[in-house]
Amino acid sequence: MKLVAAAAVLSSIAPVVATADKEYTFDEIPAAEDLSWYPCNLAFTCARLSVPLNPLKPNNGLRSEIPLVLYPADPSDEYKGAVLVNPGGPGISGTDFILQAAPVIANLTGPGWDIIGFDTRGTGYSKPNGAVGYHGVPLVPEVQNATNILSDNVTKGSIRKFKRRSELKIPYKSDAWLQKQYEDGEELNTLIQKYANKENQAVPYMTTPHVAFDMLQIAKAHARSEDLPDKDVLVNYYGSSYGTLLGQTFASLYPQHVGKFVLEGVVDMKAYYGGSLGPNHLDKTISNFVTTCSDAGPKGCAFATGKGRDDVLKRFNDLMAHFDSAKAVAENWANATIVEEAHDVVRGIFTSVGYDAQEAFPILADQLVLLEGWVKSNTVAENREKLLSWIASPFSFLTRKEYYYEILCSDMAGNEFVGSKKLSKEFVDSVRSGSTVAGDTLALTYAICSSLDLKPNWKFNGTVGGETKTPMLFVGVSGDPVTPAENAEGAQKLYKNSEMVHVEGDAHSIIYLQNKCANDNVKVYFQNLTLPGNNNRCARDTAPIFPKSNSAGLSPLKSLDGFGRTMALTILLFIGLMF
Ligand SMILES: *[C@@H]1O[C@H](CO)[C@@H](O)[C@H](O)[C@H]1NC(C)=O
Ligand SMILES: *[C@@H]1O[C@H](CO)[C@@H](O)[C@H](O)[C@H]1NC(C)=O
Ligand SMILES: *[C@@H]1O[C@H](CO)[C@@H](O)[C@H](O)[C@H]1NC(C)=O
Ligand SMILES: *[C@@H]1O[C@H](CO)[C@@H](O)[C@H](O)[C@H]1NC(C)=O
Ligand SMILES: *[C@@H]1O[C@H](CO)[C@@H](O)[C@H](O)[C@H]1NC(C)=O
Ligand SMILES: *[C@@H]1O[C@H](CO)[C@@H](O)[C@H](O)[C@H]1NC(C)=O
Repeated sequence: MKLVAAAAVLSSIAPVVATADKEYTFDEIPAAEDLSWYPCNLAFTCARLSVPLNPLKPNNGLRSEIPLVLYPADPSDEYKGAVLVNPGGPGISGTDFILQAAPVIANLTGPGWDIIGFDTRGTGYSKPNGAVGYHGVPLVPEVQNATNILSDNVTKGSIRKFKRRSELKIPYKSDAWLQKQYEDGEELNTLIQKYANKENQAVPYMTTPHVAFDMLQIAKAHARSEDLPDKDVLVNYYGSSYGTLLGQTFASLYPQHVGKFVLEGVVDMKAYYGGSLGPNHLDKTISNFVTTCSDAGPKGCAFATGKGRDDVLKRFNDLMAHFDSAKAVAENWANATIVEEAHDVVRGIFTSVGYDAQEAFPILADQLVLLEGWVKSNTVAENREKLLSWIASPFSFLTRKEYYYEILCSDMAGNEFVGSKKLSKEFVDSVRSGSTVAGDTLALTYAICSSLDLKPNWKFNGTVGGETKTPMLFVGVSGDPVTPAENAEGAQKLYKNSEMVHVEGDAHSIIYLQNKCANDNVKVYFQNLTLPGNNNRCARDTAPIFPKSNSAGLSPLKSLDGFGRTMALTILLFIGLMF
């Protein structure tokens, strides 16, 4: 699949455009309770919606301003309505996503739909903003505080325990490394308290129920702008990954307002609000890599040995043993620094490859071969630059990674570990043992949340599920390592009359998979509200992951040239172990 290449709007507060006709940036568009659409970024229109900052006290004067980008339906098609889209994260800019990927989504919905992207509370171009200057990304003081219309005028759970049962031997990071994550969390906490956690600032209002509330306000305003009554408005929605958590939260809070809803790459909502980031299937993904690589043989997969699966597994585990950073620190290895860095790279790669196995497995095979060569020739340090270039920071597509923690940790606040300062050793061990591949990444996330003093205004505390006005469509991919298909199966049972499509494949989200049957199911649903019924299984329709002709004969370095681009696509939507 192709996402339209990068309009460079990610880093500035307003998208910059240049054309003959006036194109507006968000800071030129007045926030209003009704939508006024302004031309922006050529094919799009933009607006800013003013909603109560605190839905529980809507008249206290404090307002939140939500930026919207609309990719219009082709006027020559029969108009069907608007579909809101959230691309995941949490915290990834929904407006930037639509600026880049609108045609891909429009392809999924089929003709007649306006596609609307929005930034969730406190993120992106919204105000008040959760940006706090974390890791040196500068603050934007003008958007730190909520608008107050009484003074300024607005134009009208507990953790699931896991048992490790993995054939993979990937060493864990050292305690000193974990300690560094606490320090990082404390730094973030200081910034949040300083810039964004007061009654008129963003962070208390960034939990997912607030965003669901905003979706309803967007749909109402859109109805008014079409001269339609806004009372019984229906929200149409396409949500992927964290976007499914948002979609389910909406459907649970406002079932009477559910229009056409497609939720794919489904997060387990009860587990999430209960503080559980698992289970994930990343161990299975790497085991699957070992199997498919071995099956393809040395001609098809660079890391195969031709001596069977166990031999490939041994080759993998032997290689990993050279990157035991905890041991390197404890035993004062001379190469401890590079081992630590390399370990982080390896961890990052392994948590990313499952997002799109088709693209990433052949590259992973080449990387492992190269890494092995460097270990043998004792040149890992000399190849440091190349090694580090293999993995963008897992957060590089989230310009401000504070958003991720502000949302995630707030949604989970009230659970034992958020704001608890120090996690018990048993807790960390149980998190790590949940996944050999992702254990440390999960521990890191919990360590940051444990450092944050949050006081979310509105936490989801209702019943999950309900009888929605319109039946919803869930989609699950069999080999999705981050949001396993069983999440979709479980969720589907909670929403009356909803149905599910089961798709065979190895990716997180059908956006990566581009399985024709899955896409067709989404399209007939959006077009005609046709549900799959019993005809709800989509077979794998991709070529084998390791085509016999692919890796063979290609030098590892040559195939790695494509790596930056491929991984850029892979983590654009759903960053390593983000939802
Ligand atoms: C839309 O779908 C068509 C047909 O499947 C395909 O040829 C085209 O490349 C797709 N466009 C985008 C932007 O995904
Ligand atoms: C934002 O509001 C806080 C009070 O909540 C105030 O201390 C701070 O000066 C304000 N910041 C700006 C940039 O106006
Ligand atoms: C807000 O609007 C009212 C009535 O339109 C006006 O009297 C007042 O001066 C405005 N306040 C500000 C701060 O612009
Ligand atoms: C680092 O040094 C240790 C001990 O000398 C060695 O066993 C290990 O293979 C080295 N690791 C790498 C990645 O070079
Ligand atoms: C759920 O949260 C709302 C908003 O904070 C609160 O008014 C309500 O009492 C809570 N309900 C339960 C059952 O805790
Ligand atoms: C939707 O239904 C109409 C009328 O039955 C039909 O012509 C059209 O092909 C259907 N659209 C899709 C995408 O199946």
